[in-house]
Parts: sequence; C-alpha cells; structure tokens
Amino acid sequence: MELWLAPLRGVTIRAFREVFLGPLVDAGFAGAVAPFIPANPGIRVTDRMLSDLVPGENGPDGGATPRIALVPQVITRHPDAMRTLLRGFRAAGFDCADLNAGCPFPMIVRRGRGAGLFKDPALLESLLAAGCEEMGPGRFSLKIRLGLEKPDELLALMPMINRYPLAFISVHARTARQRYEGNVDVDAFRAVCEVSSNPVLFNGDVDIESLPDARNLPGLELIRGFMIGRSFIRGLGRRVDAVELLSRYVDRSCAELPGDRPVLGRVKELVSYWRESPVWRRLWPLLKVCSSVAELRMLFKRGCHVR
Ligand SMILES: Cc1cc2nc3c(=O)[nH]c(=O)nc-3n(C[C@H](O)[C@H](O)[C@H](O)COP(=O)(O)O)c2cc1C
Repeated sequence: MELWLAPLRGVTIRAFREVFLGPLVDAGFAGAVAPFIPANPGIRVTDRMLSDLVPGENGPDGGATPRIALVPQVITRHPDAMRTLLRGFRAAGFDCADLNAGCPFPMIVRRGRGAGLFKDPALLESLLAAGCEEMGPGRFSLKIRLGLEKPDELLALMPMINRYPLAFISVHARTARQRYEGNVDVDAFRAVCEVSSNPVLFNGDVDIESLPDARNLPGLELIRGFMIGRSFIRGLGRRVDAVELLSRYVDRSCAELPGDRPVLGRVKELVSYWRESPVWRRLWPLLKVCSSVAELRMLFKRGCHVR
C-alpha cells in the first residue's frame, strides 16, 4: 500500500515538507503531491514560479533523513500552457506531474479549472493526452473527485480516462458540491476502482492513525494506496516535539518571506489544524492573536513549559 501526502495549498509547502520530513518518513509516506501551480496562456516558467518545488540545501538535518518523492501539480484549462509548465517541471528535474481536476472552489470551477473540468470532458481528455505525451507513459497523474454535482460523474468518464497510461488517479471520494462536508462515498469510489485500468489512490477523511482499519473497508481492497492530508497534519500537533518543529518552521519561514505578517499567516494556518490537541487547545487562542514573530517565539517558550 502506497501512502501519498495530499497537496494542501498554503500548508504542505516546501518549508513544511522540509521541516516535517522526519515525521513524513516515519509515517511511511512514499511521496507528496505539491500544491497546485496555475498554467495560463502566455505562461513563462520562472524560478519564482517553481520556488515551492526546488529542494532546499539538504533538508532539516543535513540530508541524514531520506527524501520522499515530490510530484508537482498543475491547475489549468489550457493544454498548451500546461505543456509549457510541464517542460519547466522537467527542466527543473521532475519526471512526474499531476493535474488538479478536483478543486471545488466556485471561482476556480466557474472558470472551468479544477472540478470545473467535469463540465468539459473533451478538454479533460486533451489535458490528459498532452500530459501523458509531455511526461511520458506512467508519469502523469490525475487528482479528481467523484463528480461535480453527483457521485457518478467520474464513473461515466472512466472509459475515456482509461485510454491514458497514468501513474495513478487519486480520487477524493466526495463531489465538488460537497466541498469538505458530509461523508465520503465509498460505494461510488468502489465503482470507479472496479473499472479503472490505472492504479487508484483513495483520498478523503482517512485517519492516518487507524490506517489498518481503513485498509479493511470493503471496496478498498482494489486500491494502490491512500492519499492523506489533514489527519497527518492534525497528528503533528500531538507530537512531543511539536513546539520545536514549529519553531523551526518559523525560522524557515522568516528566511523565506518578507516581514512578520506572511510568516504569522503561514504559522496560524498550520496551527489551526492543531487546536483540538491538549497543548494547543490552550496555546491556540494566544497564538491566534500574536501580531509579531517575537510574540510567537515568546509563546513557544511558554509552550515548552505547559506540556
Ligand atoms: C487548505 C486546503 C488546500 C488544498 N489545496 C489543494 C491543492 O493545492 N491541490 C489539490 O489537488 N487539492 C488540494 N486540497 C485538497 C486535498 O489535497 C485533499 O484532497 C482533501 O483535503 C481531502 O483529503 P484529507 O481528508 O486527507 O485532507 C486542499 C485542501 C485543503 C483543505
């Protein structure tokens, strides 16, 4: 069973993947799909555009911990622009890439990107064809939902998707309309799995701490593995070294970002996933109102004592 880290824009960014590399490796992740990069007409691939992908010096511990695979992701409705970005990925040393066909946010969907691709299967097919051609067989993957409105829309697209030799399809087992609400639909997911000629990863609400139970769910015996996001991130807050790791995350972020504001935004976004855990339940209300990095650091000192 393969385990992949789900992309979470603003959270599973490079600084996160590097600072939390040890826990990622310990949890058994084979790789991570990076948060999406848009490809619009007239795109010019710059170093800045790829800055979330290019590895830092040597990871947090001088390279002692093995790295995990990283797959860049594109969001687009323009096959030619996507080709340009994929060539940029290849030039930067990446030999695999992923297409985001699952993002449920209304502005994205209205513009026909992310889950909006359900509205135009011919365009989705052109993107799959272009992706497989640029990256090569088994080197392009698709991240998708069960449908835009209804959970059987992906199933209807499977004969088309099966024509392309993908690395995998990761399926968030909800519709885009559900966003992140309501239950995942394991039956609809199983129907997709049964007809897929490509490996399938199950995604959506999988609790990394009860993976053995998830593996036994009926219908999941056909899958290649799981893609997991939020439960892994939540679990980091329960680690005894969470404060220490977070403090490193702040250091990394300060080195990367201009000024306190974006650093605070980034850190608060991560810690918002931890606010139910015992230590952070007390620290979160204080952290939420921090207005400088110096205040944050004072709080971390306190955090070390309240454990
Ligand atoms: C804040 C946030 C950002 C996300 N960013 C992306 C993204 O960049 N690309 C993508 O394909 N999915 C994105 N997703 C969806 C996740 O990859 C994943 O499909 C979803 O969280 C369900 O998995 P989980 O329950 O294991 O977290 C995002 C989700 C959240 C909550």
